[in-house]
Amino acid sequence: MNYKDQIQKNRIPRHVAIIMDGNGRWARRQGLARMFGHRQGVKTVHTITEVAAELGIEYLTLYAFSTENWNRPKEEVDALMSLLVDTIAKETPTLMKNNVRLSTIGDITRLPENAQHKFQTCIAETSQNTGLHLVIALSYSARWEIIQATQEIVSAVQRGEILLEDVNEEMLSSYMTTSQMPDPDLLIRTSGELRISNFLLWQLAYSELYFTECLWPEFTEEEFYHAIVDYQHRERRFGKTSEQIR
Ligand code: IPE
Ligand code: IPE
Ligand code: MG
Repeated sequence: MNYKDQIQKNRIPRHVAIIMDGNGRWARRQGLARMFGHRQGVKTVHTITEVAAELGIEYLTLYAFSTENWNRPKEEVDALMSLLVDTIAKETPTLMKNNVRLSTIGDITRLPENAQHKFQTCIAETSQNTGLHLVIALSYSARWEIIQATQEIVSAVQRGEILLEDVNEEMLSSYMTTSQMPDPDLLIRTSGELRISNFLLWQLAYSELYFTECLWPEFTEEEFYHAIVDYQHRERRFGKTSEQIR
């Protein structure tokens, strides 16, 4: 039986987050420049977004570019930025067709102006869509996000708008860039690396983690179903005992 048929329709994760890794290695293995891998990776984004929408996943958060990725060679950063601009323009009709709403998390002000503009346009155009919410993490890192939240809370306390004792989990969550979403149920990382790389540190506290050797450009629909089936076999205890859950 293939993985698609094993999916339990009543236990679809609400929020799936993905660290899309391995584009460069995929290209280099074929003797190609790293950018070929990034271009191929965009095709995977297209496929996985459509599949997620079809499955009824509510939120799909994709780590596309980290704060640390600004330290890559300038040629790669520039090429990635233009790939982003091209992709957004090209993919907007597909997002509309699939009723997908786009948003971004991260320090978007660091992106080139044309990229910021393209994103704003697409976000506005898709804002009334009611299906999958696609969130692209761009110039994002969890430590950046936590610092932002801390600064905002401290300044609200200083202004007397909130009391120190009001600062709790719920409040901190509301200051995160993901305040409008549930925490990820499932985190997938491709390419065999077993780390989080500064992604959603606060929100992943109780997410199920799924690592695959598969490189992002070759991550197929079936690989995605496999991850979801795997997730559906986990017991999420949140600190309780097995007996309490059953
Ligand atoms: C992930 O692929 C995409 C980005 C980080 C932009 P990589 O570019 O990290 O690919 P590898 O890890 O070098 O293979
Ligand atoms: C993480 O991948 C960031 C994205 C997928 C955008 P990296 O390839 O940058 O992560 P490290 O540097 O190997 O941890
Ligand atoms: Mg990488």
